[in-house]
Amino acid sequence: MRVPVRRHYLMCPPRYFTVEYTINPWMDPSQPVSAEKAMAEWNTLAETYRGFGHTVDAIEPEPGLPDMVFAANSGTVVGGRVLGSRFRAPQRAAEADHFRRWFVDHGFRDVVMPTHINEAEGDFAWTGTLLLAGTGFRTDPGAHAEAQEVLGVPVVSLQLVDPRYYHLDTALFVLAEGSQGDRDQDLRPQIAYYPEAFSPGSQQVLRRLFPDAVLATEADAACLGLNGVSDGRNVVLPQEATGLAERLAARGYEPVLVDISELRKAGGGPKCCTLEIRNPADNPHSTL
Ligand code: ARG
Repeated sequence: MRVPVRRHYLMCPPRYFTVEYTINPWMDPSQPVSAEKAMAEWNTLAETYRGFGHTVDAIEPEPGLPDMVFAANSGTVVGGRVLGSRFRAPQRAAEADHFRRWFVDHGFRDVVMPTHINEAEGDFAWTGTLLLAGTGFRTDPGAHAEAQEVLGVPVVSLQLVDPRYYHLDTALFVLAEGSQGDRDQDLRPQIAYYPEAFSPGSQQVLRRLFPDAVLATEADAACLGLNGVSDGRNVVLPQEATGLAERLAARGYEPVLVDISELRKAGGGPKCCTLEIRNPADNPHSTL
């Protein structure tokens, strides 16, 4: 049986959720959107995490920043060190400072704001040993080198090629973190990804690094099934991702399906709403 690891998440309620601009192919401002339904989906997601025993903090949403619910885009936190964000779209630019202030107000001393376009965990995924980094649509490749310097962890750059999967976290997620220096098969990180979202070279890199990864299909990806959140055992997925859920269950994970149909109209799913705070203070056994 797989063992979950307690998590600490930062989320932002979608009180002012709308789709009024288009910065990814999922967003159609002519489609009706309900902030109330988005709030209900978000509450279920937060309660799901709390039900697993995880800590969920919430940041106050700001009127006029409808995408602020996608907290994952606002910070990459590894070992208690925070690398903030710098958005590509002017419509989202102001979000970065609200999150910076949240971290400063909550006692994080090591908060660095990036000089390159950097959409944080939208394009960065921590495997426990490596920081996988996406580029192609949002985050600049220069931000990958900057993340390596600021966070002091090895970064592996991956090229995204399909505009529907514009952030790394729409194409890949970490199922179980690995730990440094361990050769034991069970302690290697495990990921799931949709190969076609990556360039041929990046697909090769992923095959080399993760020969036993769970490979997602077009159908898994098309409902934002790769926007999953795993604690090492429980894997939260959009409810349409039934094929992926079956394959994960066969590997010993516990899929938990949630409705994200309203949030998906802005191009986001469970992971986009969830910024992980990896703080050694939360986890005394952490090696970070
Ligand atoms: N509408 C938002 C954008 O295009 C959605 C962000 C989704 N977040 C994510 N981590 N993929 O920026």
